[in-house]
Amino acid sequence: MNYQRIVVLTGAGISAESGIKTFRDSNGLWNDHTIEDVATPQGFERCPQLVYDFYNARRKQLLSADVSPNLAHFALANIEKMIGNGLLLVTQNVDNLHERAGSKNVRHMHGVLQRARCIVSGKAINITGDFDQKLDCTCCYPSNRMRPDIVWFGEIPHYMDEIAEAISNCDLFVSIGTSGNVYPAAGFVALANRAGAHSVELNLEPSSGTNQFAQHHYGLASVIVPRFFNTITN
Ligand code: APR
Repeated sequence: MNYQRIVVLTGAGISAESGIKTFRDSNGLWNDHTIEDVATPQGFERCPQLVYDFYNARRKQLLSADVSPNLAHFALANIEKMIGNGLLLVTQNVDNLHERAGSKNVRHMHGVLQRARCIVSGKAINITGDFDQKLDCTCCYPSNRMRPDIVWFGEIPHYMDEIAEAISNCDLFVSIGTSGNVYPAAGFVALANRAGAHSVELNLEPSSGTNQFAQHHYGLASVIVPRFFNTITN
């Protein structure tokens, strides 16, 4: 293995072959839903039930028999087995497919579907079923509403300090299945380049930031991700 400190960033494209829709492809989630309605604090204030329904449906889909990790998720779990904490897996995805494939060192910068969070204290609980505004928190008195533990547009992603630190010290940065439209994740490659890391894009097609990567492979994640990691480990 030529690299000791790897940061991998994943986006919706890595889960597409697992049966989960991406956001911006032609049949993506943002074709059927308005970002302002279901992915902003203002949308939640305006019509909370619409927001609960949207994430309840996605949480239910995650538990369905049709959805399971694919070879790209497993390839990343295998790399972690080889180099342990030398790999930090940063994902924009709110699904749990990395964990189901066996990855442990995962940071969900945009939150997770299977968690609800108190709107006042920010304390989160695990949740597998549906919930809405009738679910009270148990951390405050009197209790407050719970919201999906999802980072919406206009909010600050989780783990930013730790992620920035890891990228600033990495020797390989690999971006997988993301269109490069959403910051701060879209800016990670520039940070990695400044740190002198080798930067690689693995995606179905060139992303918005494709020119910033030193190396590119285009194709299905289930094919190009295992292939790329084989080449750097053999
Ligand atoms: N293999 C590899 N890449 C794929 C595949 C596949 N099988 N299918 C689709 N892709 C690529 C698409 O070409 C696209 O470039 O995955 C990318 C998905 O892009 P988006 O839908 O924009 O998803 P993502 O980049 O993860 O979105 C970032 O936007 O709305 C927010 O919070 C949401 O986390 C999300 C963020």
